[in-house]
Amino acid sequence: MTQVHKNIAVLPGDGIGPEVTRAAVQLLGDCAAAFHHKFEFNELPFGGSAIDRAGKPLPAETLVGCRSADAILLGAIGGPKWDALPLEKRPESGLLGLRQSLGLYINLRPIRLSRALQGISPLRPERLAECDFEIVRELAGDIYFGEHVTTGSGPKGHAHDVASYSVEEIERVARYAFQRAAARNHRLTSVDKANVLATSALWRKTVNSIAQDYPDVALDHLYVDNAAMQIMLRPKQFDVILTSNLFGDILSDEAAALAGSIGLIPSMSRGRDGQPALYEPIHGSAPSLAGKDVACPLGAMFSACLMLRESFGLELEAQWIETAVERVLDRGYRTMDIAEPTGRTLRCSEFTEQIRSEMNDVLVHHERYGWGV
Ligand code: IPM
Ligand code: MG
Repeated sequence: MTQVHKNIAVLPGDGIGPEVTRAAVQLLGDCAAAFHHKFEFNELPFGGSAIDRAGKPLPAETLVGCRSADAILLGAIGGPKWDALPLEKRPESGLLGLRQSLGLYINLRPIRLSRALQGISPLRPERLAECDFEIVRELAGDIYFGEHVTTGSGPKGHAHDVASYSVEEIERVARYAFQRAAARNHRLTSVDKANVLATSALWRKTVNSIAQDYPDVALDHLYVDNAAMQIMLRPKQFDVILTSNLFGDILSDEAAALAGSIGLIPSMSRGRDGQPALYEPIHGSAPSLAGKDVACPLGAMFSACLMLRESFGLELEAQWIETAVERVLDRGYRTMDIAEPTGRTLRCSEFTEQIRSEMNDVLVHHERYGWGV
């Protein structure tokens, strides 16, 4: 088996970010030890904690560290402490700045439900069955990166935000989504608001023209309001969903609700081939849970698995962690947010130890009998 040497930038961030990141880093460390890889972790300040330490959410040293890394693992950012700051000084602007500086224009959010956790989904099992799809969200354009302007104040106050897309921005993310669909079940649903927005009309036209290069992928289009409804009514119909930045932000939280907790969903943000990609759970910093050792580390752990698979090509290692997680869930162990009446609720660190010990058992089994059992 090939051994790899990788430099991973770790941005724990705020709130529960440091706790869940620590858990994911532990698993990556176990992975390196078990498979004789070398992972070097470079922890860097980011978000609100970086504002406190360095006066800005994205310090220069963090950007330099991320640029020179093979991949980046991020926890979460933000919190009430920094909410009163102007938009451009808040932790969120650090995240947007990082996405922009690293050219991360694709955001992948897999919605895959664990068999053991079907009970915590708000959907009935027959509606949920085999729900497994991916959201490809455009990440570098749209209303997020247009002008944000407030003028006047009081009753004379006014604000506007500009949404814009170029054909090139739509094409590059659309190609990625078509490729994902081609490697899965050959269905792509593009989501827009082409009945109202100019950006969406361009989006639809561009996606249609790209479709000619992917004849084996069946493309359809949904308006975003309908898509929001379909995700709840019939999630099984989706294979890959392609959408713009703002719609993707909203729909991915909605889709995460299918899994029963936003704490379970990982993400990858990437740009061109060969550039470092960023992995993070899609949940926020959950300030009310911070420091209590009760957060769910699964979103961060699955993000680490995505990193192993997508950035390092380490499929077996990713499966090893996922198998151990599934077994721990099968035995009824849960964190608070995914607790069920019959299971046993553990602290974040205890839950992580259960997974590590299960990983070790799987490894011992493998050493005796080989993989695939
Ligand atoms: C996300 C988050 C961010 C976004 C915030 C924190 C800026 O909600 O990654 O989904 O809106 O993109
Ligand atoms: Mg979001």
